[in-house]
Amino acid sequence: MEIGIDKIGFYTPEFFIDMEKLAEVRGVEPAKYTIGIGQEKMAVAPLSQDAVTMAANAALEVLNEEDREAIDFVLLGTESGVDHSKSGAVWVHRLTGIQKYARSVELKQACYSATAAITMAMGHISLHPERKVLVLGTDIAKYGLNTGGEPTQGAGAVAMVLSANPRILALDTDSVSMSEDISDFWRPLHSDYAIVDGKFSNQAYLNFLTDVWGEYKERNNRDLSDFEALCFHVPYTKMGKKALKALTEHASEEDATRLMGYYEPSISYNKAVGNIYTGSLYLSLLSLLEQGPELPENARIGLFSYGSGGVGEFFSGKVKSGYKEHMLKDEHEALLNKRRELSIEEYENILQQALPKDATDIELDVLETTSGTVVLKGVQANIRHYGKN
Ligand code: CAA
Repeated sequence: MEIGIDKIGFYTPEFFIDMEKLAEVRGVEPAKYTIGIGQEKMAVAPLSQDAVTMAANAALEVLNEEDREAIDFVLLGTESGVDHSKSGAVWVHRLTGIQKYARSVELKQACYSATAAITMAMGHISLHPERKVLVLGTDIAKYGLNTGGEPTQGAGAVAMVLSANPRILALDTDSVSMSEDISDFWRPLHSDYAIVDGKFSNQAYLNFLTDVWGEYKERNNRDLSDFEALCFHVPYTKMGKKALKALTEHASEEDATRLMGYYEPSISYNKAVGNIYTGSLYLSLLSLLEQGPELPENARIGLFSYGSGGVGEFFSGKVKSGYKEHMLKDEHEALLNKRRELSIEEYENILQQALPKDATDIELDVLETTSGTVVLKGVQANIRHYGKN
């Protein structure tokens, strides 16, 4: 029985900034951000959008009544959790109208946890083939103003419905993962902003990639020639290029040319959104499937997931014939194109906003959000109130 991704939805907030304008204000050569880092635009989340609302909005794009009945497991991967106890998945379960007899949990391991959620979903569906699982990767990447990480922020969510006989990508059971306790990037409980050792994090990402890839090749007796395309965790698009270069360094010209040929379509959405942590690898996959040429039936895509701290995993899937018919390319292009550009001053104000930390009630201004979008309306008596605008 094949198990894999049957549907993919995506949401990113309605505001962005232009990276060249940010560079100018920061006194940096614009080419550093657009070429050196590889980002054109960066999504900015207002206070009324958080990990829960973005995940719900991404899921609402794809769920129909049949999904709502069949889903009995909601797995939300995030490192931007909004409560130390309650899982964001419980809110998403309610906001998306999934049937009551479902389990809902949140998973955390930096940018990696949506990949663990996929493994759990596959195990669940193999035991209950008639069931579906909703997997969410949702985050706001926030390093703070005037920090080294500032040009690599972003916000958004990817929602995937996993099922038997999937229509988009059938996942293989070949994955190789590894864990190693390192301090390249983390966010202490007291901080709204991530702490990062930038250069070390780049190196750690590449070390994990080459390590799991080497083990994957050996265990599965596969090489680059077995893959039509590769997708990576994309904290900023230049990192995706570094990853591709690392894997193709000693490749044949044929393999290198083929794999490099898919790089641009695989980062098109990431370039316009920025880092969405847990969802970034899946945004790259979505970008490849929607913006790339139609891949041949059963073409194998290799996927590398990395979460600082750190866990990495290399796995793969094969595209299903006719998958393009099940993609929402027009909707996703419209979502990106209808966003409003913020001035750098507006962005700086929004980035520094935070919910009161002293339990004061707050009602949020959600005027600029499209009608029907799930928003955080406010917090009263420590209870978060979510609903449609
Ligand atoms: N024109 C073109 N390119 C230029 C340029 C110019 N005028 N000026 C500089 N560049 C290039 C540099 O040569 C460099 O390229 P290479 O990496 O290929 O050498 C690139 O622009 C970046 O320049 P710096 O290394 O000087 O940039 P920086 O010191 O400001 O830091 C960063 C860059 C480390 C990515 C930083 O933004 C950061 O810390 N980001 C957050 C951490 C991160 O994303 N890490 C990724 C791995 S960890 C992970 O993947 C998990 C996760 O999601 C966080």
